[in-house]
Amino acid sequence: MNASEPTHDASQTTFEALSEIGLTINTIQDPDVLLEKVLAIAMETLEAERGFVLLTARDRPEGFEVKSSRNVTEEQLGALVRISTSVVHEVLHTGEPILVFEALKDERYRETESIVVQQIQSIACVPLRIKNRQIGAIYLDSLTKRGRFTRASLPFLHAFANQAAIALENARLYQTLREENRRLRSEVQRLHGFDEIIGQSRPMREVFETITRVLDTDATVLIEGESGTGKELAARAIHYNGERKNKPFVAVFCGSLPDDLLESELFGHKRGAFTGAVSDKRGLFEVADGGTIFLDEVGDLSPRMQTVLLRVLQSGEIKRVGDTQIRRVDVRVLSATNKSLKELIESGDFREDLYYRLNTLTITMPPLRLRRNDIPLLAHHFLDKYARGKRDYIKGFAPEALELLQSYAWPGNVRELENTIERAVVLARGTFIRREDLRLPEPIAADPFEPGLTLKEIEQRAVLQTLKAHEGNISETARVLGVSRRWLHYKLKEWESPDR
Ligand SMILES: Nc1ncnc2c1ncn2[C@@H]1O[C@H](COP(=O)(O)OP(=O)(O)OP(=O)(O)O)[C@@H](O)[C@H]1O
Ligand SMILES: [Mg+2]
Repeated sequence: MNASEPTHDASQTTFEALSEIGLTINTIQDPDVLLEKVLAIAMETLEAERGFVLLTARDRPEGFEVKSSRNVTEEQLGALVRISTSVVHEVLHTGEPILVFEALKDERYRETESIVVQQIQSIACVPLRIKNRQIGAIYLDSLTKRGRFTRASLPFLHAFANQAAIALENARLYQTLREENRRLRSEVQRLHGFDEIIGQSRPMREVFETITRVLDTDATVLIEGESGTGKELAARAIHYNGERKNKPFVAVFCGSLPDDLLESELFGHKRGAFTGAVSDKRGLFEVADGGTIFLDEVGDLSPRMQTVLLRVLQSGEIKRVGDTQIRRVDVRVLSATNKSLKELIESGDFREDLYYRLNTLTITMPPLRLRRNDIPLLAHHFLDKYARGKRDYIKGFAPEALELLQSYAWPGNVRELENTIERAVVLARGTFIRREDLRLPEPIAADPFEPGLTLKEIEQRAVLQTLKAHEGNISETARVLGVSRRWLHYKLKEWESPDR
């Protein structure tokens, strides 16, 4: 090598270039655009006049493919690639960068006629490496200055090429993930046609099947399921894929409203019917005429409202509060509950005849913990939803994060998963969402299935651990365990009593 190679302190530009490539990693998803940017930064930092980036390609005779070049015309590029092939091959082979300070004088290349022809004064060629695999190289040269690239540039070139390689690999990975996601989604869509509802697991396929069966009927459908399992989503799918899709879908929340208010909401009122009724008002049943009404949390209806609703369902007629006129409405009724209506009937809190009216068919939305193989699909769906356009640099989930997502119990089901991903997108700092970005409690460590335990002991452990995990909340615990609250109270009493 030339002994009198020049050195200069380039630490400032070096640092800037490195942080610029850092930013690039976080903002560019398209591998081709990324390559162009990488080349531009390298050329600018090292004041190279020409350059190209190449990626290894087994199917090419040269073993690589030029992906992006600067200041080289199409015709020049062919010649340049030919004459640089030996340099590139050496770099790809050894994984070490090559600097040729004065191409004309360097012993290895002095004889290379083509270099003389091209009048290349100095060359820098650095490998792009992921772990120990060469994925390509950056080639830079100068026609005007001997010793343009110096040994002092090597540390920078190393660091830069490493960063660039990682960025590139991420961009490719992201592209693959996105294509994979798109493919899975279109597959799912092809299977059931309800593209809002994500899921491929067996219980979800059963849901899709039932939805398909009830689409073009006017059957009332009761949608059961824990909170956050997608009951409203299912109701909308039934409406928007059925014959009534061009008429309104009206959702009514039946919990928490006092009877009088709910009644006037549902059926409307006549002016002067009560204080504040300053004009005639249509109720939601009228608004939904021709379409669908969705009675959410129908288990919360008071006995009186249950009776009123039953009458409406039987007759197909409504009367506004304070009015005498009877109006016919053509409305399909869907309803949802996260309580067991059967239990409410048993305890005398829900009318059995209303139950049968509402429930020509039942759809049970499975809790997320019973369809864990849908979790990666859902997680990527929500990542796409919350990161796209704002935090595009987040490309996916770290393997440990995905593992935790799949092992967590999800008492709040898909809604909780959605909120978790939305928050993680905000917290994530890098390309992948990490385990700690999820802010989920670690799984309960103790194994309830230690050998030597009786079934009774296993039952007790399962109950007590779940209870602890939910801070003593009986309803939550009952829901997570899939048992009734009454059963749970009974068990807790039993274990409390001294004679057990
Ligand atoms: N299978 C699914 N695919 C995609 N998103 C889903 C799915 N299930 C639920 N979600 C999303 O989770 C959230 C909760 O869903 P939804 O409101 O339908 O649940 P719910 O069963 O009605 O809950 P609640 O009982 O609390 O009212 C929504 O943002 C919904 O878009
Ligand atoms: Mg709901």
